[in-house]
Amino acid sequence: MTAGPRLGTHRLASSDLLRSVFRRHAAGVAVITAQDGDAPVGFTATSLTSVSAEPPLLSFGISTGASSWPVISRAGHVGVHILGEHQQELAATFARSGADRFGAPTEWRTGAEGVPVLDDVLAWLVCRVVARVPAADHRIVLAEVVLGDPSGAGRPLLYHQGRFNGLRD
Ligand SMILES: Cc1cc2nc3c(=O)[nH]c(=O)nc-3n(C[C@H](O)[C@H](O)[C@H](O)COP(=O)(O)O)c2cc1C
Repeated sequence: MTAGPRLGTHRLASSDLLRSVFRRHAAGVAVITAQDGDAPVGFTATSLTSVSAEPPLLSFGISTGASSWPVISRAGHVGVHILGEHQQELAATFARSGADRFGAPTEWRTGAEGVPVLDDVLAWLVCRVVARVPAADHRIVLAEVVLGDPSGAGRPLLYHQGRFNGLRD
């Protein structure tokens, strides 16, 4: 007999099962930003994925209920930031409903294509949105890299079991 998955504790599909499994999926933490006229928007995201190298494409998922969605749904460009473990507060601010995400102490500037670029991150990109793929109550945004800076200092911020964390070594 071949070894297979243990069946004793398996559960049928549910949103709880999905949440329980992904609580065990340690993920890097990103902040996605965009700008509409004078109003910058942004949100914390663990759904960031590299899609293809040639052309350089990435994706992230966004809820259509997110306060950032109206702007992201129209945006030509977005900012993608990889957070460091020194930026747990920033990650929490960009996840908190109603928070003044771009007020002090958040440090940022307007970058290429009018995209808000956060200071002191491990790496950032400005990307051109190429598609918004419907997925239940989310959209998978595909974006092509325009420019960026991969040279920030620090160690990565992770999210695991509902908490921010760092690498052990
Ligand atoms: C660690 C973490 C990861 C998240 N990842 C995503 C994500 O990938 N996509 C998304 O739409 N929301 C994600 N969220 C939720 C948003 O950051 C934000 O909390 C949510 O949009 C509520 O804010 P709002 O009321 O301003 O929309 C994440 C939240 C946390 C704490």
